[in-house]
Amino acid sequence: MEKYIVIGNPINHSLSPKLHNYWMKQNNINATYDKKKIEIEDLKEIVLSVKEKKINGVNVTTPFKYEIIQFLDKLSPEAKFTKSVNTVYLDEGKTVGHNTDIQGFEDSMREIKFDVENKRIQILGAGGVVPSIIFALNKMRSSKITLSNRTKDKAEKLKETFRDLEIIDWGKLTDFDIIINATSLGLKKTDKINLDFSKIGKNKFFYDIIYNPKETNFLKIAKNSNHHFENGKKMFIFQAAAAFKIWHGVNPEIDENVFKFLD
Ligand code: ATR
Repeated sequence: MEKYIVIGNPINHSLSPKLHNYWMKQNNINATYDKKKIEIEDLKEIVLSVKEKKINGVNVTTPFKYEIIQFLDKLSPEAKFTKSVNTVYLDEGKTVGHNTDIQGFEDSMREIKFDVENKRIQILGAGGVVPSIIFALNKMRSSKITLSNRTKDKAEKLKETFRDLEIIDWGKLTDFDIIINATSLGLKKTDKINLDFSKIGKNKFFYDIIYNPKETNFLKIAKNSNHHFENGKKMFIFQAAAAFKIWHGVNPEIDENVFKFLD
């Protein structure tokens, strides 16, 4: 029986097994998908298991999306550019790392019919998923992207990959159309992002990468001021669908049932 896993640390919160197992059953694919909490030292062995076909595919989550790269034979252009791998598979005997977070973000915007073209973006945070989001935003022809991160060095480092990025101090806001929370602030229900949104104007779009809890305090601010808002659930579903397609050659069905099923 084919075997798939998602690796990370922590990993308990991951809904990937639930979603992939649901789709595998729906498509009569006889395989298992489990989650595995690992340490950095385990990465080499896991990639070897893919090479030896003991494991057929791996999803990678925080904090190993970058670290796994050194053990892989090949990278897709997107994974190479963003230095971020979330999907591993075997192609003609070579282990390949790909990044489906980019497509996940892009497809989520398409699904909610939000046109990113020429929009000014502010990103909060500089963690693992941020290069994928910037890559997707550039692809979708957003205009200026401004980014702030508590640890400014980490933000500055992103400029090596994305030269047009503007870095501002944590706590500051620019004149944006879309603001994206890519920090882990919000994972705890009591988490608050200490920003003053009183002067941002109307009709902005708040996007939170977090999908559990469904409504972070960041999104509550948007809701209470009648801005548009979206959590990270669709991005999560679409990145999983892209991985599913790579592994099984099938586009899994994404319908209301899937959205409800993950609530
Ligand atoms: P991941 O790879 O899952 O995104 P990460 O790399 O640890 O995880 O990134 C978490 C992000 O949330 C970072 O941008 C982090 O800011 P730092 O780079 O300064 O650590 C941000 N973050 C976490 N806790 C925060 C807090 N209390 N205030 C502001 N930013 C925070």
